[in-house]
Amino acid sequence: MRLFLDTADIDEIREINRWGVLSGVTTNPSLVAKEGQDPDQVWKEILTEVDGDISLETTELEADPMYEEGKRLAGMAPNAVVKVPMTPAGLETGKRLGADGIRVNVTLVFTPAQALLAAEIGAYCVSPFLGRLDDIAADGMKALRDICELYAAQGYVTNVLAASLRHPMHVVEAGLLGADIATMPYDVFTKLVKHPLTDIGLEKFLADWRKLRDGDTQQP
Ligand code: G3P
Repeated sequence: MRLFLDTADIDEIREINRWGVLSGVTTNPSLVAKEGQDPDQVWKEILTEVDGDISLETTELEADPMYEEGKRLAGMAPNAVVKVPMTPAGLETGKRLGADGIRVNVTLVFTPAQALLAAEIGAYCVSPFLGRLDDIAADGMKALRDICELYAAQGYVTNVLAASLRHPMHVVEAGLLGADIATMPYDVFTKLVKHPLTDIGLEKFLADWRKLRDGDTQQP
């Protein structure tokens, strides 16, 4: 499963990218707005920093302007993936962009029925939002499971990109279900690496090492 960061913060991206495990970045209008800078500048930095898929989201609502916007976003770099919303206009636009050889990410997906439509337009990936379903007392993981099963049963090649992940077990469970990609905020990414026994173990190793070293220096 490929691991993506769900952020537009270049410092967060640079830090995680140094770990050697970052395969891409997803952005959305809210995340880009948080940076308070020219969106093109924000996207350009990310597209250059990460050697992997970078999702840039359209903001037009009608199919024709959304298509033009998508073409422009795709033209920013070869690793750009154009995000379109799960709406009739988003589907129409996604289909047209795909026919032009542009990779499309259909976003704001909450049901297997919607995921079916994304696969049928030949989207490069579909983004089910798990956490936002959990927020309204629905079962985000169940939706992801059904989407993975549906795609396997039908042989769809559209990548399942598990999004709106809120904690490390969301990531692990998405992997177990066969999601192709998991995108997560910086704080979830940093939690993946943490375990108290790792910290305690390292502290003990280093204490023993210091004892040996200090003992050695006391030898005649
Ligand atoms: O970027 C799409 C998605 O991952 C948003 O997540 O945390 O805003 O529900 P969240």
